[in-house]
Amino acid sequence: MTLTTVQPLTGRRALVTGSTSGIGRAIAIALAREGANVVVSGRGKDAGGAVVETIRAAGGAAHFVRADLAESGRAATELAQAATDALGGPVDLLVNNAALLIPAQSLREVDERLADLALAVNVKAPALLTAAVVPAMIEAGAGVIVNTGSLSGLAGNAVSAFYGATKAALHSLTTSWAAELAPKGIRVNAVAPGPTMTQENAAYHETLRSLAAITPDRRPGTAAEVAAAVVFLAGDDAAHIHGVILPIDGGHQAVR
Ligand SMILES: NC(=O)c1ccc[n+]([C@@H]2O[C@H](COP(=O)([O-])OP(=O)(O)OC[C@H]3O[C@@H](n4cnc5c(N)ncnc54)[C@H](OP(=O)(O)O)[C@@H]3O)[C@@H](O)[C@H]2O)c1
Repeated sequence: MTLTTVQPLTGRRALVTGSTSGIGRAIAIALAREGANVVVSGRGKDAGGAVVETIRAAGGAAHFVRADLAESGRAATELAQAATDALGGPVDLLVNNAALLIPAQSLREVDERLADLALAVNVKAPALLTAAVVPAMIEAGAGVIVNTGSLSGLAGNAVSAFYGATKAALHSLTTSWAAELAPKGIRVNAVAPGPTMTQENAAYHETLRSLAAITPDRRPGTAAEVAAAVVFLAGDDAAHIHGVILPIDGGHQAVR
């Protein structure tokens, strides 16, 4: 037996949407730490560039590709092509993480503009981006897709119905894609974080703490904890895992 340090994602070409901040940034950094060559994407060029610099400074490989996924159809196709160019080959690990996090809203506060935007970024864009990268995965006979869902898509919630509906749609896409693509060697799974603390939502950490107080673990999660689950689902240790919506919520799902 040899005990050596290996980077299990070495050679993998990853695209992480919404990785200019928060959970996506943690995912991009964690995948790069495990050896993946990573495209960081979002609208924010400076923020994305800073994530790329962090990864490169630590010895990893990363590139920034700007995309506004509200323009879902064209943006998805262009992002897939630009990521392929930046990575020197087709994406074999896609993390659909970007989302419009609609602030607390009652039924009447979701107008048509907000509804269209949330559907475009949270549902249409992941669907069209996945459709754009999957043909190369099918040709290669391998690939991994991990979607960032949400506890809000699993459980009812009085203040985020429409956002929750978009996440429930992403969970549904996850299980259906898993069924369609598993026979072609492609694994599709999702993570479903509960309240999760990031640098960007620091102003809401107290709110997140009070939301998480009812969970068995009695605390919010961290972006790094979500990223660790994505790394697991991306790697070969998860080779027999398809169509899972993995809650990362301190046990909330277990007791609701
Ligand atoms: N934090 C939580 O408590 C929590 C809980 C459950 C699930 N989640 C899920 O976790 C994921 C990340 O959330 P987060 O807390 O890290 O939020 P965040 O910090 O606001 O990150 C959202 C990311 O999405 C990108 N994005 C938003 N609109 C976009 C657009 N039109 N085009 C391209 N990119 C866009 C943003 O990049 P730019 O601004 O640069 O475009 C950013 O990188 C989301 O899917 C969210 O639903 C979060």
